[in-house]
Formats: sequence, C-alpha cells, structure tokens
Amino acid sequence: MIDVTQLKQQAAEKAVEFVESGMVVGLGHGSTAIFAVQRIAHLIKTGQLHDILGIPASRHIEAEARRLGIPLTTLDAHPAIDLTIDGADEVDPQLNLIKGGGGALLREKMVAQASRREIIVVDESKLSPALGTRWALPIEVVEFGWGAQVVYLRSLGGEPALRRKEDDTPFYTDQGNLILDTRFGPITDPAALAARLESRAGIVEHGLFLDLATDVIVGGQDGLRHLRRQES
Ligand code: A5P
Repeated sequence: MIDVTQLKQQAAEKAVEFVESGMVVGLGHGSTAIFAVQRIAHLIKTGQLHDILGIPASRHIEAEARRLGIPLTTLDAHPAIDLTIDGADEVDPQLNLIKGGGGALLREKMVAQASRREIIVVDESKLSPALGTRWALPIEVVEFGWGAQVVYLRSLGGEPALRRKEDDTPFYTDQGNLILDTRFGPITDPAALAARLESRAGIVEHGLFLDLATDVIVGGQDGLRHLRRQES
C-alpha cells in the first residue's frame, strides 16, 4: 500500500516531465503541486532545466519558489503561460474540477485561464462521478455583505459555511476576501451553477474549473494514469 503523500509526489513529478527549458510555468498551490515546485527547483539547480520563469498561484507558493531559487515573473509581464501544474479537490469524468481547498482559487483560475496547457495532479481519491459529491464548493466573496451571499447560496440549494482557521477566526484569501464552503451535493449542471454564481455581485470567484484542465495525472495504487481532455 503506497501512502497518499507518495501518490501525490509521483503524479506531480510525472507532470514536471512536460516542463521544457525556456518555458513560463504556472506554479499551483497545495500539498500535491508543491512537489512539482520542488522538482522544478531541483532540475534548475542541477542544470537540467534552464531559462524557466515561474508564476506562482499564491503568496505562499511565491515564498516557497523564491526560497527554492526558481526565477519568478508576473502575469502582467507574461500573460501567456506555457504550462501550469496544479492540484484539485475533485475531478469528474470530463476533467472538470473543484478547486480552492487551499483558498487560492482566484489566482489559480487566472493562471489556468492564461495557460496553454493546464496539468492537474491528484491522487486517485480525488476522482469523483460528479462534482460536489465529495467536496463543498469554495466560493470567494467580498467581506461587505457576505451574509447576503449566504442567503443567495441557500436559494441555489447550497449549504454555505464560512471558512475558518484553526483558531476559529475567519480565513482571508490573498485578496483579503472570505470563503464560503458550500455543499451542493452532486452538481448535475456545473455550467448552469457557474453562470448563477458569476452573475452575482460580491461573489468574486468560485471553485468550479470547467473546461480548463487539459491533462490530469492521477497517482494510484496501480500506477500513474494520464487522462487527457477530449476536445468537443
Ligand atoms: C488550492 O486553492 C487548491 O485549489 C488546491 O489545488 C487543491 O485544494 C488541492 O490541494 P491538495 O493538493 O493539497 O489536495
């Protein structure tokens, strides 16, 4: 039995095989994507990769990447990213995702939308028949009037809960917003829900990542699987 941390590491390191010298690379947030950051740093240090520029998806990853010596740039300077490696909380059979368990969903989605290739790295526990089955949907809201968003999300059939830190104080995102982790159960029409969320003032972003992953690399007890999005 391989432990889950090793499965995450195997998936992340497989994804790094697609990184080439000279690329602008999106650096995702979370306990799986961090293995990719560490591997890229190692390959740079040992001269196996050069001229890499990283764009971190969170302040935490920015600090880690700096500490590890990965040269960084910004989305302003490089609005087209060659390849991003990021994690996910839930992956459905169409390779749509729920993300945001780590609270970095807004920057992660901006990085994903700017990426030519978005490789998601997960262990097999993240695979799900329908988004929402296993995970509450993280929804980032501005602090002003957040209680009104609770009412709105309930009207959509969700059960929102304000994300809190271990000390029970509210969790704030890198942008200074709050997160409402909202249980919907299996989401039958993710695109329709995404549209309802996007139409609401005060909702900054949500964790439904639809048609964004080009590849998903899954670490499992029976080995690695590489899933590719079917173009419709
Ligand atoms: C960060 O906001 C998230 O989207 C992460 O990518 C996601 O929560 C997966 O994290 P783990 O790899 O730690 O499970």
